[in-house]
Amino acid sequence: MKIFLDTANLEEIARGVDLGIVDGVTTNPTLIAKEGRPMEEQIRAICEMVNGDVSAEVVSTTAAEMIEEGRRLASLHPKVVVKVPLTPEGIKATSRLSKEGVRLNVTLCFSPAQALLAAKAGAYIVSPFIGRLDDISADGMELIRSIVRIYANYGFKTQVLAASVRSPLHVIEAAKAGAQIATLPLKVLEAMFLHPLTDKGLAQFLRDWERVFQEVPAQR
Ligand code: E4P
Repeated sequence: MKIFLDTANLEEIARGVDLGIVDGVTTNPTLIAKEGRPMEEQIRAICEMVNGDVSAEVVSTTAAEMIEEGRRLASLHPKVVVKVPLTPEGIKATSRLSKEGVRLNVTLCFSPAQALLAAKAGAYIVSPFIGRLDDISADGMELIRSIVRIYANYGFKTQVLAASVRSPLHVIEAAKAGAQIATLPLKVLEAMFLHPLTDKGLAQFLRDWERVFQEVPAQR
């Protein structure tokens, strides 16, 4: 499973990349706006830091505008994957741009029917939003399971990216369901490390080691 960071913040990306297990980054207009720097500069800077795909989302709403904006975003850096919303206009833009060789991440996916349309349009990635479904008492993970199954039934190559991830449990359940990618806020990635038995076990190992090798002077 690939692990992406869901942020446009360069410090967070540096911290994640330093762990050596980050395969890409996803951004959206909200995340880019938080950083307050022109989108193109920020996306280029992210691409220089990460060894993998970097999703950059269009902010236009008609297919014609998305196609133009998508071409511009794709030309920023070879790592850029153009993100478009799962609307009829977004699907039109996906069909067109995918035929030109642009890689598309179709985002704001909330149903298996929408995911089927994204795959048929040639999406490189589809982004079902788990957390936002859970927030309205729907089952976000069931959506991941349905999409993985539908894509497998027909051999679609579109990768399923679990988005709107809120906890390590989301990551594990998405992995069990067969999602190829999960995109995580840094705090969720860091929470994946946590286990009290790891801390307790390490403290014990170090105490035992010190008792023999550091408190007793070395014998010759
Ligand atoms: C990533 O591609 C999505 O834009 C992101 O995961 C949405 O997450 P949120 O629901 O926490 O805003």
